[in-house]
Amino acid sequence: MASSYTPLFPQLNGLLHGGDYNPDQWLDRPDILEKDVELMKKAGINSVSLGIFAWSALEPEEGVYTFDWMDQTIDRLYQNGIYTILATPSGARPAWMDEKYPEVRRVLPTGKRNLHGGRHNHCITSPVYRQKVREMNTRLAQRYGQHPGVILWHISNEFGGACCCDLCRKKFQDWLRERYHNDIGQLNHAWWTGFWSHTFDSFDQIDPPMDQGEHSVLGMLLDWRRFTTANTADFIRNETEPLQQYAPSLPVTTNFMWLFGGLDYNEIAKEIDVISWDAYPRWHNEQPLYAVASETAFNHSLMRSFKRGQPFMLMESTPSKVNWMPYNKLKRPGLHELACLQAIASGSDTVQYFQFRMGRGSFEQFHGAVVDHTGRDDTRVFQEVSETGQTLKALSNLAGSVPSPRAAVIYDWDNRWAIEDMAGAAKQDKKYNETCIQHFRAMLRLGEDPDVISSTESFEGYDLIAAPMLYLLKPGVAQRLKDFTAAGGVVVTTWLTGYVDESTLAFLGGFPGDGLMELTGVEAAELDTLYPGQSNRIRWNGKEYPAAEFCELLTLRGAKAAGTYLEDFYAGQPAVTVHPYGKGMSVHIAARVEDDCLLDIYADIFKERHMGIKALPLGLEIHSRVDGEKRYRFYLNFSEGKVKLPSVPAKCRDMITGEEIPVGTVRELDCYGFLVTEEEL
Ligand code: GAL
Repeated sequence: MASSYTPLFPQLNGLLHGGDYNPDQWLDRPDILEKDVELMKKAGINSVSLGIFAWSALEPEEGVYTFDWMDQTIDRLYQNGIYTILATPSGARPAWMDEKYPEVRRVLPTGKRNLHGGRHNHCITSPVYRQKVREMNTRLAQRYGQHPGVILWHISNEFGGACCCDLCRKKFQDWLRERYHNDIGQLNHAWWTGFWSHTFDSFDQIDPPMDQGEHSVLGMLLDWRRFTTANTADFIRNETEPLQQYAPSLPVTTNFMWLFGGLDYNEIAKEIDVISWDAYPRWHNEQPLYAVASETAFNHSLMRSFKRGQPFMLMESTPSKVNWMPYNKLKRPGLHELACLQAIASGSDTVQYFQFRMGRGSFEQFHGAVVDHTGRDDTRVFQEVSETGQTLKALSNLAGSVPSPRAAVIYDWDNRWAIEDMAGAAKQDKKYNETCIQHFRAMLRLGEDPDVISSTESFEGYDLIAAPMLYLLKPGVAQRLKDFTAAGGVVVTTWLTGYVDESTLAFLGGFPGDGLMELTGVEAAELDTLYPGQSNRIRWNGKEYPAAEFCELLTLRGAKAAGTYLEDFYAGQPAVTVHPYGKGMSVHIAARVEDDCLLDIYADIFKERHMGIKALPLGLEIHSRVDGEKRYRFYLNFSEGKVKLPSVPAKCRDMITGEEIPVGTVRELDCYGFLVTEEEL
């Protein structure tokens, strides 16, 4: 995809380092607010996200606005070289609003309306709330839209969830009317409502999926999720319109979450200029560190791929620990900087935290922060944040550069939802996310940092597409995968591919449907779901690997069996197949296998397609960003010991120390160590 290699924030001439800042909680402590600026400068912080939940401080009574504190904060920061990302405060509402206008409070699937409290829980349809937001945003834009210290709008906070009130019900019905051309017959067909006599006579009969209501019509569940996305996008447009009117040159973002299932982020991404997200990996948990790291890298890739060719933002991360997990472990010394660099390596132009200063009370009083309750700068965490600030300064040159991978993993929300709702295979967890991450991880081990794209995104520029568990095929996707392969690409598919269309109606004539069987050269005749603890084995390339959970039984329709099952009644039948197609090739993996098996399969594909390198030591990640003139390479050690790096492939410069590194040099990295190099393209 084309890129202009423009840094996200030209004002800064480098990378952003900062985070959520809540002076509104400290207005009675001007001494602390003064001190904050001093501490920010010491920590190398050059930006803050301001006002995220500040509605009460901005409009303490209906129609009474108090912007003085915000005026002073933005000015004070700007005078000290610190830029402001300005939030709209709609993530939480003041009590007066909830009291006077009950309709702004969300109705739960139980049918009950929320009482006042919490956050992220407004009715997304409510005309009153939309009007209130519009009035607030208009004032913010008029007042701060031209301030040289303000560089970005941060819309609300972590959108998510749906409301089931009558207004939302009516809007859902209208949305369905439009989708099905006002023809209830079309809806009944798409939703297969003849089943259990669930046929609708009119759009007016349709409810949201309430707790005590309909949950067996799968097409309806999927449409409800699509509607929720569409309604949230509509809400966001209501937020951004006044901002664009009064501050047309300021870009807009909203912060996304870790593999969030509630919204199709591909659709939400279209409403904003810059992608940003909040990363809270469970570092040092029961999984090996490399696995947490590659899962995090997957999320970074997903985020950057919403706007290919443009850097994204790490909007929130914790400098030490969170407070909302069952166990809130500290990041071990050194890991913080490494994790920040992973975001940069994956294409972020920013490292930001929740939060700059710990609040004294309420729910997040013990959440990690740059400045804790001591208020001092000699804490371990403050020191590590300051070191990170120094490192980011040394990397200023790479702002605006982007990764340019040759591979992509397809990750699709409609597909995810359809798999979650599907009644069959395994009830609880069909492991869609895990499987996509596994494919990503296998490629990462081979030195490739794949994009993570939706099935409707362009396949241009890639040599290899992994489409794990692509159960739901949107119109045209099968044909595009075929065209991509015919032109020389490699497509990797797995069990549960091409079962249903975009309405979740099963394809007739065998899976994968919609003509995809022509590409895979296999028919998925049956799907065997094993009980937990049970397994089969497969042999591939002379080696044996366990297979568990899902084993699909294949009939060859042109493909060659490259691997076979070794046990049960399907022993000897194909488990991994290869099918040359046009100038390219399709590889189908019929069973859920472990990381080492996938790694070997991808290593073989990579070797054949002259991609990548030999498998990296476990825990070592290599990422790179380019900007048309230079390549910036990141070597990140997410193992618990030293690792030896592959020899450097070109003469380069260590961006932190400035040292020249001759081609062929072999370096070693300490535990949690990193190396960032710069080389001419
Ligand atoms: C985020 C949220 C922040 C803060 C943080 C704590 O999801 O956006 O406001 O609550 O979690 O980890």
